[in-house]
Amino acid sequence: MNERLHQIHELALEELSKVSSMEELQNIRNTYLSKKSELMQSMSKMKDLQGEERAKFGQLINSIKMDITQKVEETRLSLEEKKLQEKLAKEVVDFTLPSSDYTKGSKHPFNLIVDEVSRIFIGMGYDIVEGPEVELDHFNFELLNVPKGHPARDMQDSFYIDETHLMRSQTSPVQAHVMLSKNGVGPIKIISPGKVYRRDDDATHSHQFGQIEGLVIDSNVNMGNLLSTLELFARSMFGEKRQVRMRSSYFPFTEPSVEADISCFECGGKGCKLCKGTGWIEVLGAGMVHPNVLEMCGFDTKVYQGFAFGIGIERVAMLKYGIDDIRKFYQNDKRFLSQFTKE
Ligand code: PHE
Repeated sequence: MNERLHQIHELALEELSKVSSMEELQNIRNTYLSKKSELMQSMSKMKDLQGEERAKFGQLINSIKMDITQKVEETRLSLEEKKLQEKLAKEVVDFTLPSSDYTKGSKHPFNLIVDEVSRIFIGMGYDIVEGPEVELDHFNFELLNVPKGHPARDMQDSFYIDETHLMRSQTSPVQAHVMLSKNGVGPIKIISPGKVYRRDDDATHSHQFGQIEGLVIDSNVNMGNLLSTLELFARSMFGEKRQVRMRSSYFPFTEPSVEADISCFECGGKGCKLCKGTGWIEVLGAGMVHPNVLEMCGFDTKVYQGFAFGIGIERVAMLKYGIDDIRKFYQNDKRFLSQFTKE
């Protein structure tokens, strides 16, 4: 009887070694391991045996069954692996095929200017900070020395959300945020690029546009520092030969206030169409931080002074790239937008 079991075992292993498909494997499983298989049926013979012989017979059947089961499982795994390898071999990717065309995006001229101005001021040791676009009246006006009813509000009549909130009309409120965060302790040296909103709409004014605010607070800061800072900026941005001139102007939060012009980079100052014959181009507003603003924002005016400036981002981009209409920045015409990245 044992002889026959060994025979079955050998037969099964031999057949398994020749298997080449899942179907064949399934047949082998049926032949050798199903309830009706000779191996399983031999269990019934146990009742004719006694004692040790009976135990040994049972063990033999079990060990053969376990061995065949294990070999069947191994064969199944190797068949699956073989199938996978065949599939992968057929699916070879041809890396020499030309790829489909793709278009590379380009930076928006607005962001190119922000990047370049940021780079220049980072080089001078400035930090970059951001402020909220939905602003409190308190920050957009009050802390900047523009109380309710002040005529300077008219120029920046803006988009109000409710009585106390508006879309900021300038980046100058960031000055107040930064100063208050310092609890009266300088120095401060920051620029803050961002979007601002005003009720404007023509070839040179958009209801949304960008500004870069600058603020320096320290002891011993004067107009000379402001002028040399603006000169360094103008030369880095528009060429080594640029000169800066300051004209007296008015902003409620600076005293004295100036508008800064740079010598025309088109004609070198002789007078041309770009500078409207004057030789000068207006680029920004600036001034010494008004003592009222310093005090409202917690700085001791006996110790600290500062200067601030505000640069129009689109204005700089229009000058630098020769763009004639500010609305082009916001029409998302790719033919326009893709012209300014060099690569
Ligand atoms: N906030 C001013 C404007 O929008 C510009 C400015 C900034 C002027 C800082 C002086 C100092 O016109």
